[in-house]
Amino acid sequence: MPATATHPDLLEKIAVAVGAGAIEADPAAMAPWLTDWRGRYTGRALAIVSPRDAAGVQAVVRIAGAAGIAIVPQGGNTSMVAGATPPVDRPAILLSLRRMTRIRALSPEDGIAVAEGGVILADLHAAAEGIGRRFPLSLAAKGSATIGGLIATNAGGTQVLRFGTMRSLVLGIEAVLADGSLFEGLSALRKDNRGYDLRQLLAGSEGTLGIVTAASLRLVPAAARRAVGWVGLGSPQDALTLLRQLEDALGDAIESFEILPRDALALVLAHIPGTRAPLAEDHPWQVLVEATAPASGGDIAEMLTASLAQAIDSGLARDATVAASEAQAEALWKLRESVSEAERVDGAAAKHDVSVPVSAMPAFLHLARGQVEAAFPGARVLAFGHLGDGNVHFNVRPPTGDTGWFAREGGAVSRFVHDLVMAEGGSISAEHGIGQLKLAEFVRTADPVRLAAMRAIKAALDPRGLLNPGKLLPLAEIGPAQ
Ligand code: MLT
Ligand code: ZN
Repeated sequence: MPATATHPDLLEKIAVAVGAGAIEADPAAMAPWLTDWRGRYTGRALAIVSPRDAAGVQAVVRIAGAAGIAIVPQGGNTSMVAGATPPVDRPAILLSLRRMTRIRALSPEDGIAVAEGGVILADLHAAAEGIGRRFPLSLAAKGSATIGGLIATNAGGTQVLRFGTMRSLVLGIEAVLADGSLFEGLSALRKDNRGYDLRQLLAGSEGTLGIVTAASLRLVPAAARRAVGWVGLGSPQDALTLLRQLEDALGDAIESFEILPRDALALVLAHIPGTRAPLAEDHPWQVLVEATAPASGGDIAEMLTASLAQAIDSGLARDATVAASEAQAEALWKLRESVSEAERVDGAAAKHDVSVPVSAMPAFLHLARGQVEAAFPGARVLAFGHLGDGNVHFNVRPPTGDTGWFAREGGAVSRFVHDLVMAEGGSISAEHGIGQLKLAEFVRTADPVRLAAMRAIKAALDPRGLLNPGKLLPLAEIGPAQ
């Protein structure tokens, strides 16, 4: 492990604390972790340090802190907002949680898993299944996203309808704070009213208040069966009406309700190998719906099929299919989960992760699209996502063939879209966080009272601004640069 010329002592001290094998300073080996998933930000790091336990994280934070060096925590590097990419304007250690992969406890009785920050979401799914329970949060990046990052960003995903975002699944947190102390809040208590909820303060803090080293997570009963349907519809309003009808018929069995416009499906079919259209005809809007049932419940596929048939008979839905096998269900999910990847392959676009009240979403989609396309001639809106949560990815693609458009217009488009969202009382970051990508827009659109309170919290817990600088709050506002 070659120490960098500028900070050899620092890396030597870290090597003594966590072992030389936990340090990577070779530029080629570090490179993949220094650029964000979307490839828009590349940062610099003195080294990537991957401790094996919380004590190691504490040691690194203390040693770096004493030298005034920033720490950027990173899990699977799947942030959509460059929240785990180090800065370019100050020296930083990239602290990787990837070796902290232990599931410390699994309790079917308490319905709890205690997982370390580096546990990959898909591994937690498998572990929970192994004891006959289920961890309900899911998203396209489940094969690489880690528990620490999912908590730090309060991740949402495709299965939020019934059990909520990550926040609602975190029962306890263990985290290393900026001074190197360990907050041991892993207790499995369902009720605990001892004042400020540090667990919920750390959730969604994007690594700016502490580094999540482990969490107690809520497990829910396993679903004995699931039914996955794909529905063709004429409009988002029809889709929302269908959601309410399905809820009336099936109750909280509905766990996912994801909407895609025709263009999103076309992009997936064009760019993702092995995909094919699920319905005979093309429809302006499509919905993927998933319902689950416990062993004692009725035949959920039959119930979903009957409800969808009724929706077609009444003219609400245009066509529908329900997967007849687990392989078919997976194929439908692949269509939905590949939209982001298909967009990435297709080229640059102005991406937005917005929410408005659920009932306002159909009108918002219609009006905002019209306004964006009028203000930016040729721009192509592609809005898809979590209709049931009032959260869509309202992305705007360049006019066909205009390769310079994104660089020229991307910023103006984002400001335009966000202004429309704010006018609806919505949020410019529904589930991806602020990171670096949304920072300027967050500061531009945020209520000053919210910003002032956030700055005060940051100043109290990380007065020197050493934890994940440049994310969530501007550098200048979180303390003196080191
Ligand atoms: C999704 O819903 O597919 C993800 O949040 C990814 C994205 O926004 O591109
Ligand atoms: Zn999403």
